[in-house]
Amino acid sequence: MLEVLRPTQEPGWVLTHEGYSVLTESAVESRFALGNGFLGMRAARSTGRGPTWVSWLGYIRWASWPRCYVAGLFDMPNTEPPVPALVPVADWSRIRLILDGEPLVVREGEILHGMRRLDMRRGVLLSEWTHRTPAQVTAKGHELRLLSLADRSVGLQLQQIVLDRDDIDVRLEASFGLAGVGMEPVRLENDLGAWRTEGTGKVVAMAGAASLHLDGALADPERPFPLRWIWRWRSKAGQVAQFARLVAVARAERSEEDPAPRAAATLTRSTSVGWRAILKAHESAWDAHWSDSGIVIDGDDDLQRALRFAVYHLTSAANPSDDRVSIGARALTGDAYFGHVFWDTEIYLLPFYTAVWPEAARALLMYRFHTLPGARSKATLGGWRGALYPWESADTGEETTPDSVLGPDGKPIEILTGKMEHHISADVAYAVWQYWRATGDDDFFRDAGAEILLETARFWASRAVAEADGRRHIRHVIGPDEYHEDVDDNAFTNVMARWNIGCALEALDLLRKGWPDRAEALRDKLALDDQELDDWRDAVARIVTGLDPATGLYEQFAGFHSLKQLNVADYVDHALPIDVVIGREQTQSSQVIKQADVVALIALLPQEFPGQGAEINFRHYEPRCAHGSSLSAAMHARVAARLGASDTALRYMRETASLDLDLDPNSAGGVRIAGLGGLWQAAILGIAGLNLAGDTLELDPKLPPQWDTLSFKVWWRGRSVGLSVSRPMLEARLMAGDGMDVTVAGVTQHLTPGSPLRFEL
Ligand code: BGC
Repeated sequence: MLEVLRPTQEPGWVLTHEGYSVLTESAVESRFALGNGFLGMRAARSTGRGPTWVSWLGYIRWASWPRCYVAGLFDMPNTEPPVPALVPVADWSRIRLILDGEPLVVREGEILHGMRRLDMRRGVLLSEWTHRTPAQVTAKGHELRLLSLADRSVGLQLQQIVLDRDDIDVRLEASFGLAGVGMEPVRLENDLGAWRTEGTGKVVAMAGAASLHLDGALADPERPFPLRWIWRWRSKAGQVAQFARLVAVARAERSEEDPAPRAAATLTRSTSVGWRAILKAHESAWDAHWSDSGIVIDGDDDLQRALRFAVYHLTSAANPSDDRVSIGARALTGDAYFGHVFWDTEIYLLPFYTAVWPEAARALLMYRFHTLPGARSKATLGGWRGALYPWESADTGEETTPDSVLGPDGKPIEILTGKMEHHISADVAYAVWQYWRATGDDDFFRDAGAEILLETARFWASRAVAEADGRRHIRHVIGPDEYHEDVDDNAFTNVMARWNIGCALEALDLLRKGWPDRAEALRDKLALDDQELDDWRDAVARIVTGLDPATGLYEQFAGFHSLKQLNVADYVDHALPIDVVIGREQTQSSQVIKQADVVALIALLPQEFPGQGAEINFRHYEPRCAHGSSLSAAMHARVAARLGASDTALRYMRETASLDLDLDPNSAGGVRIAGLGGLWQAAILGIAGLNLAGDTLELDPKLPPQWDTLSFKVWWRGRSVGLSVSRPMLEARLMAGDGMDVTVAGVTQHLTPGSPLRFEL
């Protein structure tokens, strides 16, 4: 077993954390979390657990937060605020080692060595520890854990333990810990448990098998309780105890469905092939993913590592075979944001999936198609037409943003994003269009995508109201900059809305030409008449954008330019976010921006910034931004890279990378997956200048002088293309599929199998 417990030797693939501290433990657990889009598991220690909370004098913080998640398992827990939340399932990795009646715990004795490693290449968490007990017995452990990428319902844990003493009474207990609060057990058998969420009536079944070998001989466990195994033996110094546990998980949406037979069948299948085969299949699946999505940078080891880390978590977050779930703001790595899905998914994550893993992108967009009814009712509730997606979404597509949260002073603060942050509808439309342009997945466009485009456009046309000035206004919104609430005519929202309506008109034309029957059927279904389409054209012509044609500058929202000027740079060294330092009122009355807003618009719709427009707006808004959100720096990096400001781009990329790679306490609630998606975008859409929505595969690289090469692959309309950017040239190679055109910095050439193309830069 020992050989599989060793990490990949090739440099740059393994992240290491040494030691244990209650203050950083929870961030380590997020950072090294495992996931496969169906299951998630934080990297808590399985043996010799530490405390759960750090708490003294009323100060409470997570210490260790051992959590396992199943995608889509939302319940309405009995908590304040009352919103659906992802409920944790039984923690199946727990091991207790009891030596001469004394349990091994972090607090007692001495940890001589404790190391966790995330082996990104193999998608496994490796741990090594040496613990000397107060009785001076030294126990040494090596562990491997994985959530299979080859069979998403399977998890594996291997642990090898060696003691340095004879004649110790050893007891090893392997159990399934408690499921989340509010999960009631409905079935508990020897190797199988099933739990139901109290509110939503979903059921999760978990089946487990465990074995122990002592110096190669199989030992018999006691089974005092379902899903619990106990082995007792008398130690010999140097004797090798090898523990292996397999788990199989199944979810059912309704309590009438019983997922237990599925979990049991998966477990039987897994145990019959054995853990070596499970591990091998998992490693091959990771290999295949790295082959499609790996990025190689020569000349920047730090960002190379950061991009691998980003791709590791992005790959761990998605599941192409479940289109009823999407990715929450912390993926399946922590409890923050309750597992809710935001614009993060469409704007920060989708480009990655569209470019390197289109099957995952499709499933994520189908989740938005299936939740269209929720978006329609949200629009109706607000007095509008079409589909207004919820700002925060869980499983049903209803709005799940809490109405209030507790502020730093313990007083409730009203949350307005759920009522006013409407740009999400255009963000979903944007991702739909980009996916279709890049993949040419006509079935998706015809059967799902077009309907999303039309319904979101319809929402915007009803939302943008004609006023006495002859223009159409979108009032009472929150843009990406959430420091300013209830604003009018947010440029990001309005320009994206206009784009959304224009795009829907184009989509309808394309539908009529390509699939006239479907176009008719959809118009009938949506009762979309010519008069309404005329109104859409009118909206496109008359929506206020905030652009001053004389200066090329957009006003972030009506009145932004007249707010108080503030030197944001004076506040960057504060440990607290600027809105906490200067207070809500002063924040709202100042030109201080939470995150990329107009800057995000430059990234998404560069055509709306002709001439020097992008430069002018970036230079104006960048100094005003306080980067109060983990989404911000990456978007600035992407735009700076497009402007050729590579030092600024690299600085922002490093800032984004440090969010989860350094042990920032905010990582405790899970990795900031949108920041990681943004980091990928900064490299591929920013530095390499990949355009996913062009007529051909388009690139326009601006390689930083510090980098020698940047190599990666993308999928483009059914072809896999390998790309390598170096200083004088870009090389494109067709890895799979038919010949195709490639455009680099405006020059188009035809790429055929077996003949790589070179473009001079
Ligand atoms: C950001 C939002 C983001 C959310 C979830 C907020 O702090 O301002 O843009 O969607 O976090 O990541």
